[in-house]
Amino acid sequence: MTGTQDIGDWMKGVQSRMEQALAAYLPPEIEVPARLHQAMRYAALDGGKRIRPLLAFAAGDLFHANAEALARVAAAVEMIHVYSLVHDDMPCMDDDELRRGKPTVHVKFDEATALLVGDALQAQAFLVLSELGEAMSDGDAARRSLAMIRVLAHAAGSCGMCGGQAIDLESVGITLSLAELEQMHRLKTGALLRASVLLGALAGKALTAAETAALDAYAGAIGLAFQVVDDVLDATADSATLGKTAGKDAAANKPTYVSILGLEESRVLAEKLRNDAHAALAPFGDGARRLRELADLIVQRKA
Ligand code: IPE
Ligand code: IPE
Ligand code: MG
Ligand code: MG
Ligand code: MG
Repeated sequence: MTGTQDIGDWMKGVQSRMEQALAAYLPPEIEVPARLHQAMRYAALDGGKRIRPLLAFAAGDLFHANAEALARVAAAVEMIHVYSLVHDDMPCMDDDELRRGKPTVHVKFDEATALLVGDALQAQAFLVLSELGEAMSDGDAARRSLAMIRVLAHAAGSCGMCGGQAIDLESVGITLSLAELEQMHRLKTGALLRASVLLGALAGKALTAAETAALDAYAGAIGLAFQVVDDVLDATADSATLGKTAGKDAAANKPTYVSILGLEESRVLAEKLRNDAHAALAPFGDGARRLRELADLIVQRKA
């Protein structure tokens, strides 16, 4: 799948595959309760950079995973991500009105619907993953798909994304140490990016301890870099470019890399993390080209 294709074309291919997969794996709009299904599809379809699916496909390429298995794991991770965004935007959290260039779910629908959209997307993610076995079609598939469900559950829960969100909310108006800030970012954002990489790889085969360690080092670096850049963009880009309200972190008094390290040092840190990510991929040689390119993209992105 990788071949010599240009990264931009490859990304477009994955993004359109993802759009199809999400459309297929979400309940149809006409199914009862129609309003909830409409809101789930509104949140998940037609928007976003699809970074997590791209990471899953890039890691899957490295281990020759089949396309159907990859579409399932990528859709599952994206559903958890979308649920996290819908809840993150609610008035009880960041109270945002704009997401992916559209009104947020609680604005377009209502708060109770936004809550249920998140709940239902999380359940749907695990449903989609639970049907993975047949797509992987090898002797080890059942055991591997259970391992994948555990990776995603851990990444989404209180020791992963939800835990990071809890720390984020507790930290309003507080000066965190750099170590505390790093932990918050690794949980709220890094955990799901790591799961994307590991799930994509596991869709291909059972990993050796050395492969897991190398992918972990890569994912740890890009996971942190992603949120460092998110903090920088919140402070420097405009809402139209981001598709979400810029300047929210300072307005809400959130500790961020920008508030603690400043803009310049945050950018330097992101570059260092990009180099760490590249170094971690050394054992994989040219097979990891897409993962390298995605590390570059995560650090250089403008939205
Ligand atoms: C935004 O994630 C929330 C964070 C974890 C920083 P993305 O920047 O990946 O959002 P989309 O999916 O492209 O909308
Ligand atoms: C949210 O971080 C991370 C999630 C788990 C959704 P942010 O609150 O910084 O994300 P944005 O900036 O609203 O996308
Ligand atoms: Mg938030
Ligand atoms: Mg937010
Ligand atoms: Mg942000």
